[in-house]
Amino acid sequence: MQFDESNRLRERAKRLIPGGAHTYSKGDDQFPQLSPGFITHAKGALAWDPDGNEFLDWGMGLRSVCLGHAYEPVLEVVRAQIEKGVNFTRPSLLEADLAELLVELVPAAEMVKFAKNGSDVTTAAVRLARAYTGREVVIRCLDHPFFSVDDWFIGDTAMDAGIPQSSKALTKNFPFNDAAALERLLEANRGQVACIILEAAATAAPAPGFLERVRELATQHGAVLVFDEIISGFRWNVRGAQHYYGVTPDLATFGKAMANGFSLSALVGKRDIMERGGLDHAHPRVFLLSTTNGTETHCLAASLRTIQLLRDTPIIDENWQIGRQLREGFNALAARHGIGERARMQGVDISPWYAFYDADGKVDMGLRTLFLQETIRHGVLIPYIAISASHRQAEVARTLDAVDKALKVVAQAMERGSVDGLLVGPVVKPVFRKFN
Ligand SMILES: Cc1ncc(COP(=O)(O)O)c(C=O)c1O
Repeated sequence: MQFDESNRLRERAKRLIPGGAHTYSKGDDQFPQLSPGFITHAKGALAWDPDGNEFLDWGMGLRSVCLGHAYEPVLEVVRAQIEKGVNFTRPSLLEADLAELLVELVPAAEMVKFAKNGSDVTTAAVRLARAYTGREVVIRCLDHPFFSVDDWFIGDTAMDAGIPQSSKALTKNFPFNDAAALERLLEANRGQVACIILEAAATAAPAPGFLERVRELATQHGAVLVFDEIISGFRWNVRGAQHYYGVTPDLATFGKAMANGFSLSALVGKRDIMERGGLDHAHPRVFLLSTTNGTETHCLAASLRTIQLLRDTPIIDENWQIGRQLREGFNALAARHGIGERARMQGVDISPWYAFYDADGKVDMGLRTLFLQETIRHGVLIPYIAISASHRQAEVARTLDAVDKALKVVAQAMERGSVDGLLVGPVVKPVFRKFN
C-alpha cells in the first residue's frame, strides 16, 4: 500500500494549518507513518484516501456517523431541505419539530437548545448551572477524556498553556466509579459547587449504584447534574445512556451521532433550569447559546431522519451485538496468538476499545502504533470503534481477518521485546500532553 500522494499533501497541510488538521484526534501524532493522511470520500463503512486506497472505517468521523457515510435515507431529506433554504431570519419550523422529538425521547429533556458543536453545549451547561446556582466550582470526571475546548475543561488537562490560573482553580475532578471521592470533593467545596459533569459511561460501565449515588449527592449538595451524552447519546439507546442506566440528570448534552455526521448538538434539561436562557423569567438573563448557523435546516432534517431511523428499527440493538462479536473475536485471536494477557478488547459492547500492555501491565503505545500500522496495511482503519448501521457481519469478518494478521506482527514484537524493525516511523502519543 502506497501513501505517496498523502505524504505530498501532508506537507502542504502542515504548512497551512497548525498540526495539519482541525481536530487533534485526526492529527499525524495519532496515526502511524504508514497511514492515509487524508480521506477523500466515504460511503457506508468504506473510506478512500488520496492514493486510491480503500479502508473499512471504524472511526466514522470521530463517532459522528452512526448510520453510514453518505447514507441515502438521510441524504434524501438533506437534499430536499437544501432546496428550501438552510438559514432564515426567524426560526424554521424544524427547530420545534426536533426539540419535540428529543423531549419525547430523552428523560431529562423538558426543553432543548441547539448548537453546532459538543463543546458549545457542554460549556452552555456549565454557564447555565453557574447562573442557576449562583456558584462557580465545576466538578468533572477525570477519566472522561474530553468535554469541551473551553477554559473550564482544558485548564484541568496537561495541555493548559494560555489558560488563566483563576479559571483553572474553579475546576476539580474525581475518578469514575468513585462516589466516595466525589462526596469528599463536595464536602470540601460545600456550598460552592455549581455542577457535576460526567459521561454516564465511557470506557467503563458504571458500577452498580454509582450513577444513582452521584444523582443523590448532586441533589443533596444543590449542584446541577450534567451528563455529557455527546458520545453515548443515540448510541447506547435512542433515549440516551441516561435511559439505559435509569438515572436522570438535570441537564444533558448531545452531538455527534444525533445527525449522522451533519453538524448539530443539543443542550437539553429540566424546565426550571433551561428557561433561565429564555425570555419569561425575572432572574438575571443568561446568555445561553446563540449561533448564526446553529440551526441550519438541513442538519435539523438530517437529525430528525437519523433519530427516527434509530427509534423505528433494530439498528442500535444490532450494534450491541456487533460490538460483542468484535470483542469476543479480537480476544479469541489474541489468545490464539498467545498474547491474550497483553492484547485486550474491553469496555461496554456498544463502544468497545482495545489496548496493548507491556510486560509490566502498562499501556504500550508502541504496540498500539504497530497494530494500527498492520491493520491499515490490511485495509482496516480502526483507531477506535464507532459501530454504525453499515457495520454488519461482512465488516466484522473483514476486520477480524485484518486483526488476525496484525496481531501476528504484534506478537512478534512482544516476543522481541521491541517494535524496532517492525514499526515504520514514530509511536503515536496522547493528545493531552504538556509538550510535543
Ligand atoms: C464526550 C465529549 N464531549 C464533548 C465533545 C466536544 O464535541 P465537539 O467536538 O462537537 O465540540 C466531545 C468530542 O469529541 C466528546 O467526545
